[in-house]
Amino acid sequence: GNKVYENIIVSRPAEGVALITLNRPKALNALSSPLFKELNEATEELDKDDSVGALVLTGSDRAFAAGADIKEMKDKTFVDVYQNKFLEDWTKITGLRKPIIAAVSGYALGGGCELALMCDIILASPTAVFGQPEINLGVIPGGGGTQRLIHAIGKSRTMELTLTGRNFTAAEAEAWGVVSRVVPEGEGKVVEEAVKMASVIASKSKVAVQAGKEAVNAAYEMTLAEGLRFERRLFHGLFATQDQKEGMSAFAEKRKPTWNHS
Ligand code: HXC
Repeated sequence: GNKVYENIIVSRPAEGVALITLNRPKALNALSSPLFKELNEATEELDKDDSVGALVLTGSDRAFAAGADIKEMKDKTFVDVYQNKFLEDWTKITGLRKPIIAAVSGYALGGGCELALMCDIILASPTAVFGQPEINLGVIPGGGGTQRLIHAIGKSRTMELTLTGRNFTAAEAEAWGVVSRVVPEGEGKVVEEAVKMASVIASKSKVAVQAGKEAVNAAYEMTLAEGLRFERRLFHGLFATQDQKEGMSAFAEKRKPTWNHS
C-alpha cells in the first residue's frame, strides 16, 4: 500500500502512474514546511520505485496551491531564513529522474505557481488562476518564479506579473506557453487528463524517458551547441540499451515493442 501522510495523499490511479494530491483544503493547500517535507519524501520514494513510470501532482478543484504558507513565514527574520536555507529544499522536485505532470485547477499562486513551473508538464483546468502575488506581501518570488517564467513567457510579461502581482488566467497561460494545454471544463477532468498522459509516458521505455527528460532540461542550462552535443551523446548512449534493439526490431517486424527498461 501507499504510505500515509498528513498533508498529501499518494495513490495509484493507473498502471505505472503515481498521483500526489496536496491535501490542506482549509488553507487552500498553502505550502507549509511539513507539507513540503512530505512532498519531497514521497517524490523521492516514487522516483526510486520501479513500478512507477510517471507522477502527477495536483491539488483540489479550488486550489492547486495558494502559495507558501504566509502565516508560517510572517514572523521569520533574515537570520532565520538565511541560516536555515529557507526554500532550498523546494528545488528537490526538479531533480527527479521521472517525469512529473502538474494538474492545475483553481489557484496556483506564488509558491503554488512556482511549484507547477518546477514540474515537467503543466495541464490546466479552465478555472486555473496563476500568479506571482508576492509583491503584495512586500517580497518577491523565491521559488524560481522570476527565472522560470522568463524562459516560458519572456521578459516583459514576467516583469509585469512580478511587479504588479496580477493574476493570469488559464487562457493566458495557454496562449503564452506556460501550460501545454487547457483541458475541457469539469470537476476532476484535469487530473483525469494528466493521469492519461502519465499512463502514455509510463508505457514507454523508462531509460529512454529519463534521457528525453534530461535532454529537454539541458536546454535550460546550456548553450545551444552544448545542448545539441549533450542530446546527441544521450542518443548515442541509448544504442547500448536493450530497449533500443527491441524498439527498432519491433518496428521492422511490424509488432508492438515489449520494453524491459534496460
Ligand atoms: C497561508 C493561506 C494562504 C497562504 C490562503 N490561505 N492562502 N494561508 N498561506 N498562502 C488560507 C486563508 O488564510 C484562509 O484561512 C483559507 O486559506 C481560505 O482562504 P480565503 O482567503 O478565505 O479564501 P478566498 O477569499 O477564496 O481567497 C483565495 C485567495 C486568498 C485569493 C487565494 O486566500 C489569497 O490571496 N491567498 C494568498 C495568496 C498569496 O499571496 N500567495 C503567495 C504567498 S507568498 P482562514 O483560517 O482565514 O480561513 C509565496 C512566496 C513563495 O508563495 C516564495 C517561495 C516559494
